[in-house]
Amino acid sequence: MSAVDCQGLRKVFRASVRRGVLSRENSEILALDGVSLKVERGVIFSLVGPNGAGKTTLIKILSTLLIPDGGSAFVEGYDVVKQASKVRSIIGLVLAPDKGFYSRLSGLENLIYYGRLYGLSKSEATRRAKELLDLTGLGEDGLRLYEEYSLGMRAKLSIAKALINEPEIIFLDEPTIGIDPLSARRIRQLIKDLATGGRTILMTSHNMWEVESLSNRVAIINNGRIVAEGSPQELKERLQLTYRIEVEIMWAEAPDMDLPVAIGERGYPVVSLTTNRPSEDLVKLIDEIRSRGYSIGTVRVQEPSLEEVLTRVLSG
Ligand SMILES: Nc1ncnc2c1ncn2[C@@H]1O[C@H](COP(=O)(O)OP(=O)(O)OP(=O)(O)O)[C@@H](O)[C@H]1O
Ligand SMILES: [Mg+2]
Repeated sequence: MSAVDCQGLRKVFRASVRRGVLSRENSEILALDGVSLKVERGVIFSLVGPNGAGKTTLIKILSTLLIPDGGSAFVEGYDVVKQASKVRSIIGLVLAPDKGFYSRLSGLENLIYYGRLYGLSKSEATRRAKELLDLTGLGEDGLRLYEEYSLGMRAKLSIAKALINEPEIIFLDEPTIGIDPLSARRIRQLIKDLATGGRTILMTSHNMWEVESLSNRVAIINNGRIVAEGSPQELKERLQLTYRIEVEIMWAEAPDMDLPVAIGERGYPVVSLTTNRPSEDLVKLIDEIRSRGYSIGTVRVQEPSLEEVLTRVLSG
């Protein structure tokens, strides 16, 4: 059984468009247009795509906050509509902005409150809350009032809250948004550790580097439809994205080569080529340069990025 299994999910929102002070038209927005998706247990699965693509809507349906207009969705085998309370007990959810905190309570008190809601005893809830404050890097800030929290502190507390019930599956909608680089790194490590420990993560992010470094699988969603899915490597291979090799030649003038030569950042000539067999072609190129009696400076091999995949898929 998959951790998440949805078939043909549809969600329509009624939206109002204002064309003037008195004129208002009602229209319909197809936020999800037949989304089918399987997420296997223990993987980190990312949803990526432009603003308004439907990522948050999908996460809200899977976490029982929205009811779909069509299709079906199961989380750990439980129906998100018919068995919503069961689903809620086994998931953790981070949505930004998180409106679920009491501003006059400290971060710690808020977490204890949620722990109690999940049925933990007072001492268990306190122990778990403190552990999560350390795990997310909030530490001593846990004692301050929530209303005084910075954006990043709020984001960390919301991750801590999502983990209070030791969920099997964790939905993270843009978990590192507004978080400083060192804390974001800690959160990425936390996400990895959770997956290594057997938890399933379904997340969204606009940071393609982050998605690439974390995810086992990625789905690209556009206009409410999944338009590509696979591991980051598979997606790159499927699109036949190429590597770029650049070799600097320690030679003051234009060297005699059969490939394009440009002047690099350090003022030396640089030969470059694009290929989908980077290792073989790099060796060949180096041999070629040496055989002409030139010496080699820096060598750079640029891998195709997930950002290129996204750009390519979305631009058709
Ligand atoms: N409560 C709502 N009422 C009306 N329309 C909505 C509502 N929630 C979402 N939508 C619309 O549904 C579409 C999908 O929105 P969604 O929030 O799922 O996008 P997203 O992929 O999460 O985008 P982003 O990257 O900006 O977070 C958008 O057109 C959005 O305006
Ligand atoms: Mg969103």
